[in-house]
Amino acid sequence: MSENHVSARALETLLGQWRGGASAYLALSDRIRLLALDGRLPSDSRLPAERDLSLRLGVSRTTVTAAYRQLREAGYVNSVRGSGSVVRLPGASAPAPTPEADGILDFSKATMPALPGLADAAAYAVAELPRHLGDSGFDPVGIPELRAAIADRFTARGLPTCPEQIMVTLGAQHAIALLARVLVGRGDRALIETPTYPHAAEALRAAGARLAAVSVSAGGPEEDPGTRGWDEPSLLQTLQRSSPVVGYLMPDFHNPTGQSMPVEQRELVASAAADSCTTLIIDETIAELTIDRQGDFPPFAACADARSAPHIVSVGSVGKTVWGGMRIGWIRAEPGLIHKLVAARCANDLGTPILEQLIVARLLTDMPAILAGRRGLLRVGRDHLERRLADTFPNWHVPHVDGGITAWVNLGSPVSSQLALAARSHGLLVPAGPRFGLDGAFERFLRMPFSHSVAETDRAVDALEAAWGSLGRHPFADTGSLAEVV
Ligand SMILES: Cc1ncc(COP(=O)(O)O)c(C=O)c1O
Repeated sequence: MSENHVSARALETLLGQWRGGASAYLALSDRIRLLALDGRLPSDSRLPAERDLSLRLGVSRTTVTAAYRQLREAGYVNSVRGSGSVVRLPGASAPAPTPEADGILDFSKATMPALPGLADAAAYAVAELPRHLGDSGFDPVGIPELRAAIADRFTARGLPTCPEQIMVTLGAQHAIALLARVLVGRGDRALIETPTYPHAAEALRAAGARLAAVSVSAGGPEEDPGTRGWDEPSLLQTLQRSSPVVGYLMPDFHNPTGQSMPVEQRELVASAAADSCTTLIIDETIAELTIDRQGDFPPFAACADARSAPHIVSVGSVGKTVWGGMRIGWIRAEPGLIHKLVAARCANDLGTPILEQLIVARLLTDMPAILAGRRGLLRVGRDHLERRLADTFPNWHVPHVDGGITAWVNLGSPVSSQLALAARSHGLLVPAGPRFGLDGAFERFLRMPFSHSVAETDRAVDALEAAWGSLGRHPFADTGSLAEVV
């Protein structure tokens, strides 16, 4: 397997505010270990030479040597004379442990439980399948009934859409990665929010984009409510000055902050994107999970005038509304772009499974009832999480959200990575705030999903309480369980 060399400078950026706790070498090895467990330092990354890192961080060579030794002894680093220190995950050659198998509570995923009634929709789809068995089954664009159902759903939400504007994908992540591959060239600028959904940033980077960040805030206890949401001047300036080829935005229940972009701001941003010839990738994966949001929030693309509309591409999926295991998503774009995307798709995959498409075509006709059920679950989950966190951690700030599935909790001090590591020792996987930043930022924040059951949320808050109490003195050993953020 090839090794990626991580420069001292790149590692310094990833480390963020790593200092703290009793000794520098332990703090450093802990942070590198978290980066490896989080996937921010992929397995096989070659760490910088000790001397380079010590110079870069302004610490003694002995500190870096001791940190690398600690990582080696715990199985996180292989050191081979002549080829440096390479990140390894302990037991990586064995089948990957899953949190569930280890009895660990996985709060790294902001997902809903599978929709009740999913099995009935699947039975219906099985009965429909024979109608399709005469075809080849390779379907890179989507079966007509699903494209029509997705178009109808957009139309019902206030954005008139025809099936020719729809391409069916293997989930929203596939849609984002495909768009990045087709629209972004090596070295092109891409606008992105910070914090953001990390796999979107990864897809843009993989396509060669240089990211230009615009901040989204959940607001703080002392902050003027006007500072909540998108930094509008910076958003508009980045479009004007950097002319990014694409911008990736989550205007409804932004993950992780839960913020929604006001309609007037959507209009301004759409118009500025048209001026700078930027294609906006609007991620609506979470957009329909309102709890009690007041006011009118039409889909972002419905806020664009005729000039701006061709610059707006929407992506979505049923991963959050129905089930993460239902790998069906979509892209809404001009038919010309849909053709390009379909042509480019086959280099990576040859289409979307027919049976899953039939299931989703059936479910989409029932979306209002499905969403009403999800709203009930999310309301209970949100209210319970807010109450438990307020009682347990009166000094944390938990911004109230009116939809989505996550709260972006402000811990009051830059200890999120330490807390996430300690939480693992108490049986809870939760991603540290910097997982959602581009450069090690957000060490004061923790993303907490409220889509889990009340009992699981109770266990998670108990684990956080124990972890919080042990900060700075948690043991180095942990389970090594891996979980991807979604
Ligand atoms: C904002 C956002 N976009 C996209 C995705 C990926 O969605 P899918 O599971 O449909 O690939 C997720 C999943 O967590 C998400 O939170």
